[in-house]
Amino acid sequence: MILNWIFSERAWKMKSSAIREILKITERPEIISFAGGLPAPELFPIEEIKEACVKVLEQNGDKALQYSLTMGYPPLRKFLADRLSKDGTKLTEENILITCGSQQGLDLVGKVFIDPGSFVVVEDPTYLGALQAFNAYGPHYTTVDMDQNGIAIDQVGEAIRKSKPRFIYVVPNFQNPSGITMSFERRKLLVELAQEYYVPIIDDNPYGELRYRGEDVPSLKSLGGDLVIQLGTFSKIILPGTRLGWIAASKEVMGVFERMKQGTDLHTSTLAQYVIYEYVKEGNLDRHIEKIKEAYARRMKVMLKALEEYFPEEITWTRPEGGLFLWVELPEGASATELLDKAISEKVAYVPGKFFFAREDKDNTLRLNFCTMSEEMIEEGIKRLARVFKENIRIRQISAGIR
Ligand SMILES: Cc1ncc(COP(=O)(O)O)c(C=O)c1O
Repeated sequence: MILNWIFSERAWKMKSSAIREILKITERPEIISFAGGLPAPELFPIEEIKEACVKVLEQNGDKALQYSLTMGYPPLRKFLADRLSKDGTKLTEENILITCGSQQGLDLVGKVFIDPGSFVVVEDPTYLGALQAFNAYGPHYTTVDMDQNGIAIDQVGEAIRKSKPRFIYVVPNFQNPSGITMSFERRKLLVELAQEYYVPIIDDNPYGELRYRGEDVPSLKSLGGDLVIQLGTFSKIILPGTRLGWIAASKEVMGVFERMKQGTDLHTSTLAQYVIYEYVKEGNLDRHIEKIKEAYARRMKVMLKALEEYFPEEITWTRPEGGLFLWVELPEGASATELLDKAISEKVAYVPGKFFFAREDKDNTLRLNFCTMSEEMIEEGIKRLARVFKENIRIRQISAGIR
């Protein structure tokens, strides 16, 4: 019966996410998983959030449980505007729209800017969830390579001229999936190109506050002002479960985002916004970020050291300065997708890199999350992975006659 229903073209086109299927297997408790994008749950500020919940319900229960403004809870928006303005970005609460995670920010960007067939410029590789969000609106992608300094800026001008994109989407800080940070030089040049061609930049920034070494780089928003729409989230710096993120944009664009969001969900959870505001308003946020940075920095160090020690020299990887992920490149011809089965039988897992490419995938790549597992598990997991790669990549290459 249901098979006779006529679904939209959009619904037919949306493939179920292969990565979700993989994560179902890789998140089994017996597996050392470097696959998920999860922050470390043992670092969640559970007690403080519990206290904030009680306080909100006792003092403001009637408001916190009620419908509220589409733009979001004003004190939380003011808090974010002030915080984001610290690096010279000029923002007031009118420039902030609270979203249901930055994933909703991405969906709204798609809804606001993309018509079927319009072009979008993305980094190669890029955040898989952004591709999923944009895909619903039927874009074509123009991809731009990345190197250790971020987007290959010499390709961007040509990409804009050729495809006249609706926007350029980048993750400039500790990119998901590669861990790469865009250099200051590249940021300036990217903003200049956006100004020259009047193309908006979507600056997706969930990891910017999670720097473990090196110097902060000025944000694209602080360099590009109204040409830049920045997406942010509490997911990786407090917890993802309340699903709170935000869009920072000019007032003019905000009106469009607001109308689009109204049709989607009226507003983000009032209760979640009250609770998180109660938690952040007393200065808890900086303290908490320092605490998780310390733990994540140690875990990143352990993973980098284990990679040096156990991985064969034909395999290369990025050396991030922050964030959650690093990116591994296997020798040409190796398939990270095929090797995943072998890894899982050794009870260790990763995400094959091919899912992060908008057009042509490179199946000899993979993403590792260095934040969710304990230091001991990280070392053990990398040892197991090294064994899987050493045993199987050599066999593949010999059988392919590469040697
Ligand atoms: C680059 C990037 N953007 C957006 C998101 C979505 O985050 P959330 O919806 O939890 O705020 C993620 C999550 O992993 C991400 O890595």
